[in-house]
Amino acid sequence: MDFLLNNLLSPLFLLTFYAFPVLSHLFSPIDNYLINCGSTAPTTTVDNRHFVGDLAGKHSHLFSSSRSVSVQNDNPLPGVPPIYHTARVFRSPAKYAFPVRHSGTHMVRLHFHVFNTSNLELGRSQFHVLVNGYVVLSHFSSINENNPRILEYLIWVDAEKLVIVFVPNNKGSNFAFVNAIEVISASQDLVPDTAQYVNLSSRKMENFDGLSKQAMEVVYRVNVGGAKVTPFNDSLWRTWIPDDDFFRSSVVGSEKLYFGGRIKYHVGGVSREVAPDNVYNSARLIRSKNSSVPSVNMTWVFTVDEGYKYLVRLHFCDIASVSLGLLYFNVYVNGYLAYEDLDLSYITNSLASPFYADFVVDMDGSIGALSVSVGPSKNSIPHAIDGILNGVEVMKLNNSHSSLDGEVCADFVLKSWSRGNTRILISLVAAVCIVLSLSIVIRRRMIGCRESVTWSRLPVNLSDDNVKMGNI
Ligand SMILES: *[C@@H]1O[C@H](CO)[C@@H](O)[C@H](O)[C@H]1NC(C)=O
Ligand SMILES: *[C@@H]1O[C@H](CO)[C@@H](O)[C@H](O)[C@H]1NC(C)=O
Ligand SMILES: *[C@@H]1O[C@H](CO)[C@@H](O)[C@H](O)[C@H]1NC(C)=O
Ligand SMILES: *[C@@H]1O[C@H](CO)[C@@H](O)[C@H](O)[C@H]1NC(C)=O
Ligand SMILES: *[C@@H]1O[C@H](CO)[C@@H](O)[C@H](O)[C@H]1NC(C)=O
Ligand SMILES: *[C@@H]1O[C@H](CO)[C@@H](O)[C@H](O)[C@H]1NC(C)=O
Repeated sequence: MDFLLNNLLSPLFLLTFYAFPVLSHLFSPIDNYLINCGSTAPTTTVDNRHFVGDLAGKHSHLFSSSRSVSVQNDNPLPGVPPIYHTARVFRSPAKYAFPVRHSGTHMVRLHFHVFNTSNLELGRSQFHVLVNGYVVLSHFSSINENNPRILEYLIWVDAEKLVIVFVPNNKGSNFAFVNAIEVISASQDLVPDTAQYVNLSSRKMENFDGLSKQAMEVVYRVNVGGAKVTPFNDSLWRTWIPDDDFFRSSVVGSEKLYFGGRIKYHVGGVSREVAPDNVYNSARLIRSKNSSVPSVNMTWVFTVDEGYKYLVRLHFCDIASVSLGLLYFNVYVNGYLAYEDLDLSYITNSLASPFYADFVVDMDGSIGALSVSVGPSKNSIPHAIDGILNGVEVMKLNNSHSSLDGEVCADFVLKSWSRGNTRILISLVAAVCIVLSLSIVIRRRMIGCRESVTWSRLPVNLSDDNVKMGNI
């Protein structure tokens, strides 16, 4: 208690810490492609960002395909951004190749929004998507939704090009589509190379190395305790959604907090490119209002696919304590004590200064739910804040097939297309041969009975009966 009072009453405590706030700046990526697919318009502006038509001179060289068409939605729903009014439709594998000037992590965003044209329902498409040899989508079929669907991937590129391939599914609708594509080089600090691996079988933390080289799909990006953050307010044009759908405890002692002050980004610490002010200036927290520390956890649960590893990034920023050195808490990932007695003051040396922690968890044989909890620790102090969380990101790591969507590798996807087509070709040739020989037989028979009969369609079942029926 003495410790508490001393800290509370000593503004000097605060002043002994230096703060080097990073001046706010605009991140300008070296590679920055915003493509409005199927559009001839030189630019289409959404959220102050300029998307270039893939048919408009400047970027048309990025795209190669023999059999693609562009389609337009003549009756877009009101409020649907203009990049979703057009799409490019592929009937055979097609690729976009983006020259890369900056090697490192790139963000790839694919935009899908189905609409109907007079002769095509985009909702009936089914296809695979590959990015630089990773399968990012397999048997993807976007359901009819009123809202556009944006899928985001983090891909390490050290080649000269980033190549996105769309492969229609042979056995399905046989076409693929996309409305818009973003390829942006991320800031260097977005994905570090090492994270803490939560090994549930040894119940130990280990280093997970080579994180930045994994392909990742951003599955959840959540602003805890706050409102939706749109690309307009994020220096890497990300979207952060509110946490209400994931927050599981309606616990006494937990509350949402909004902070109106300035978030102090420090040199060498977390940058705005890791997460923007709007993420750190809101949180959920556990507050002790009397002389006892509440014995509660705040828990968030995320539905995930089994059989993959996930990166869980937790964002913290003490926007609630009245002074340094008052906040201690535990962090659990999938029930495992991932951080004991986390002391943000010790790490950041100032209040309202951001920090994040990365954990890799294995979802093998799990129940498909990833959980994150924050609760008081043995050092938590009464009459103070005893737990806080500002943001969560959940990213899926590629599996050993270099896939983010299934057990099939990129080569297999490409071969399945040519195999399927060879099969179609062979059956077509076979059908033509059969029809030819049958027609000769039939013709001979007919010459004997009737003068002329025309075929209206191919026989489906080539039995003698059918041939006779066709004769009638
Ligand atoms: C497209 O047309 C189909 C069939 O009429 C309908 O079921 C579907 O809802 C339509 N989709 C859109 C996005 O309008
Ligand atoms: C997790 O721990 C088990 C038991 O110690 C060990 O056999 C396994 O290799 C570890 N897993 C990883 C991915 O390091
Ligand atoms: C950006 O953030 C500010 C401050 O939180 C908010 O008032 C504004 O509505 C946001 N703008 C958009 C387009 O999201
Ligand atoms: C502190 O407050 C909580 C509810 O906010 C209550 O359950 C608890 O009994 C109180 N403890 C004491 C020692 O007053
Ligand atoms: C908080 O969650 C952890 C991990 O699930 C658990 O071990 C601990 O007992 C929980 N604490 C409370 C107060 O429920
Ligand atoms: C992801 O793919 C790479 C190959 O590109 C592979 O080396 C790595 O082990 C894969 N990641 C996992 C978690 O299996």
